[in-house]
Amino acid sequence: MCHIPEQGFAHNELATAVGIEGRTVRRNTPTIYNVAYSKNLFHDAREDTLEWQVWGPLLAKNEMGNPSFSSVVNKIKILDGYPSLFKKAFDNQRVSVVNIGKALASYQRTLISANSNFDKWFYANKEDALNEKEKLGFRLFVGKARCASCHIIEADYALFTDSKLHNTGVGYLSSMSPKKEYIPVQVAPGVFLKVDTNVISKVSNKVDNDLGLYEITENPDHRWKYKTPSLRNVALSSPYMHNGSIPSLRKVVEFYNKGGVKNPLLNPLIKPLNLKIYEIEALVDFLKALTGSNVNALIEDAFSATTSHKITH
Ligand code: HEC
Repeated sequence: MCHIPEQGFAHNELATAVGIEGRTVRRNTPTIYNVAYSKNLFHDAREDTLEWQVWGPLLAKNEMGNPSFSSVVNKIKILDGYPSLFKKAFDNQRVSVVNIGKALASYQRTLISANSNFDKWFYANKEDALNEKEKLGFRLFVGKARCASCHIIEADYALFTDSKLHNTGVGYLSSMSPKKEYIPVQVAPGVFLKVDTNVISKVSNKVDNDLGLYEITENPDHRWKYKTPSLRNVALSSPYMHNGSIPSLRKVVEFYNKGGVKNPLLNPLIKPLNLKIYEIEALVDFLKALTGSNVNALIEDAFSATTSHKITH
């Protein structure tokens, strides 16, 4: 429900995810494309292996809401077909915490998507795989706009992330802005309605302030630091940033162009860029050229799996 295959294995319709019984979740659903290569997981990087990560959403009260590890194991044990599938996959072993983690992690590691037009141009030297505007976008990305200082891309490094956490001002803005009378609520991709803040607080849970990495380390210098996401397939997974507060790639580039949001802990690399309109457009076109060639095949594969309890393998 959160990592929807045809919505970039993320969720295009909601800025922040909605959990069991409509419960409020603080953060935006990240895509799981290429998650096999992530060195750290969650926007605050609090986990580092997929096998353990899966228990976060399974047990979080406001996400999938399972009360305990054993309740998940026991639920799966009574689903038709699953115990025998576990035996088959894990050398006669039973459904267990470890094997559930391994199974979900193994599936996610198949969601690898590259061979984008950019890859064909940059790594396979196909000169016409990118048009002139996209090539200009790349030059700005690694040059004047300084994007590649954090979204690293090199001849022998293809991930578009430094796997580190930075303060770009997105978190500061939502934590420190005075409470607004109206909040823009996204009702469809890019379509916002202004809704009275009092109405929202009547129907939703109180959302805790989001301080990013500070919540893990309790180091005050780590306030509002979030993980640099990979930019592969980024055109598919709007809205953007850890809180889904930026609806389009154009708006993300405009955000960087004005130097993010000023705050005492802002990363010094985030500065006004003085990009011209055609340069902003070129950067956006470049980001759109990062979509992998096998996206449709992965979506079809996700839909071909049986989702009912009756599994007949
Ligand atoms: C100082 C490091 C840094 C620099 C420089 C930087 N970024 Fe980012 N970028 C980040 C971080 C950290 C995030 C996540 C912020 C958040 O979740 O609040 C991010 C998020 C993004 C996203 C949203 C991705 C998603 O899935 O939500 C896009 C798109 C993006 N950056 C593009 C760019 C472009 C284009 C540039 C250059 C103009 C750039 N970035 C420069 C660190 C950086």
